[in-house]
Amino acid sequence: MRKRWVVGRGAMRQILGAYARLEPHSLVLKTATYGKPYLSWPVIGIPFNFSHTRDLALLAVSSGCRVGVDAEFVQSIAELEKISRRFFAAPEADEITALAPEARLSAFFACWTRKEAFVKALGRGLYAPLDRFRVTVKAEEPPRLVSADWCEPSTWTFADVGEPGIAATIAVNEFAPVVRRFEFGPTSN
Ligand SMILES: CC(C)(COP(=O)(O)OP(=O)(O)OC[C@H]1O[C@@H](n2cnc3c(N)ncnc32)[C@H](O)[C@@H]1OP(=O)(O)O)[C@@H](O)C(=O)NCCC(=O)NCCS
Repeated sequence: MRKRWVVGRGAMRQILGAYARLEPHSLVLKTATYGKPYLSWPVIGIPFNFSHTRDLALLAVSSGCRVGVDAEFVQSIAELEKISRRFFAAPEADEITALAPEARLSAFFACWTRKEAFVKALGRGLYAPLDRFRVTVKAEEPPRLVSADWCEPSTWTFADVGEPGIAATIAVNEFAPVVRRFEFGPTSN
């Protein structure tokens, strides 16, 4: 676990260093009020966000707008309906529980990662009220912010970046961002 964290942090510094054109070790990482890391002076204008689940780590880097990413390993959940009702907006929980049993798990994780990517972009993480905004729920439905009390949904773009067995979403505070995905394998050392 600790090794994964160290490898993830090292890779994050390498990638951010390349964007900032600075040596990875010279980057100064700070955390904002609710724990969201950011690059401190002399680097400005490179917002990023990080998520890890098992052996996968995702780093989302943006060219200036707020960005959040969440990845979750899809595994069975004993009290899926109860957890949905506790954390999600009522219409989201209704939608999940109305689905056929075999579609519920993927919908739960689609909903969860879409919501968490959004609150991570805001920098609030799980301190944000997850029941006060809505996202699309079904896994096969385009990921989207449906409504939020405090912002215009069309100013946000979501992208699914999952792979088999992993649900993952990026949320970007921009109307039509270009989303590019790069994959990095394990290093030998
Ligand atoms: C931080 C939080 C969003 C992490 O979610 P998670 O699914 O467990 O973990 P992820 O791998 O997706 O994200 C972790 C990364 O998010 C980033 N992060 C931490 N706080 C963040 C925040 N407020 N906003 C955005 N990103 C944050 C960090 O880079 C962190 O990486 P690290 O663990 O290597 O430091 C979530 O645990 C949280 O908000 N916690 C604080 C509130 C809380 O614990 N409430 C409990 C009651 S519900």
